[in-house]
Amino acid sequence: MQATAARAPGRGSSREFESTVLAVEPIMGDAILLTVGAPPSVVERLLPGQFFNVACRFPGSFDPLLRRPYSVYRADREKSSLTFLVRPFGRGSAWLAKRAPGETLDMLGPLGNWYAIPPRSQRLLMLAGGVGVAPLVMLSDDAAAQRLDIVFVMGAADEHGLLPASELRGSIEYLVATDDGSRGHRGLATEIISDYVAWADQIYACGPEPMYRTLRAVADPLRIHQRPKVQISVERGMACGFGACLGCVVETRRGMIASCVRGPVFDLDEVVM
Ligand code: FES
Repeated sequence: MQATAARAPGRGSSREFESTVLAVEPIMGDAILLTVGAPPSVVERLLPGQFFNVACRFPGSFDPLLRRPYSVYRADREKSSLTFLVRPFGRGSAWLAKRAPGETLDMLGPLGNWYAIPPRSQRLLMLAGGVGVAPLVMLSDDAAAQRLDIVFVMGAADEHGLLPASELRGSIEYLVATDDGSRGHRGLATEIISDYVAWADQIYACGPEPMYRTLRAVADPLRIHQRPKVQISVERGMACGFGACLGCVVETRRGMIASCVRGPVFDLDEVVM
């Protein structure tokens, strides 16, 4: 398996640190945006798609024991802060979603590789499913700052689960799909990308695995010699975050790969799913 981006010198080392919750805002139905302070050295070297393993428990407690992985939604290098998108799915995320400004969190990161924007890429297609939108917001921030052309497509169960358009910065074409038709196209987000596949230099996606299978079914007949390349971020439990527990492996054409180290971003053509 070949990760989409190699580690760059000085950008791959992670660290454990204590961060203070700076702000909590509701978004996308029952989700929140959780903004925390982080050391400038961490924020400055961060790249879109990297994640942090967060201890979702009070200091001194070991329950739940395992940290939870969160991709960065937005990084503010001036304020030295990181924002995460948290939806209360299970015990850990429910605990995290209840945090308040002033509380502290135990963080480990940044971890993993990142979405790469190759030189000369000008037209980017981004496809988000649900809370998978998080790393693509940071990627779109970086791409918009480079004045690249971006089409951002998002799917959700209903309109409440969609990212507000106001959250996207720069001049971005934003298209949405909902399962119930309450906003945008009724159906899957992958059903509205056909016109943009051949247009794009690169495709970036983040969402559940079934979305990647339909993305492959829609995009492959429109791609020529596997171009444009498709970079996806896989979702796995990340117990350790540094390749020790093998709880995050992904099956690829080159064998089983620990996605916390050589992922979570992969070339879709390399992943077996
Ligand atoms: Fe332990 Fe990846 S999370 S090996």
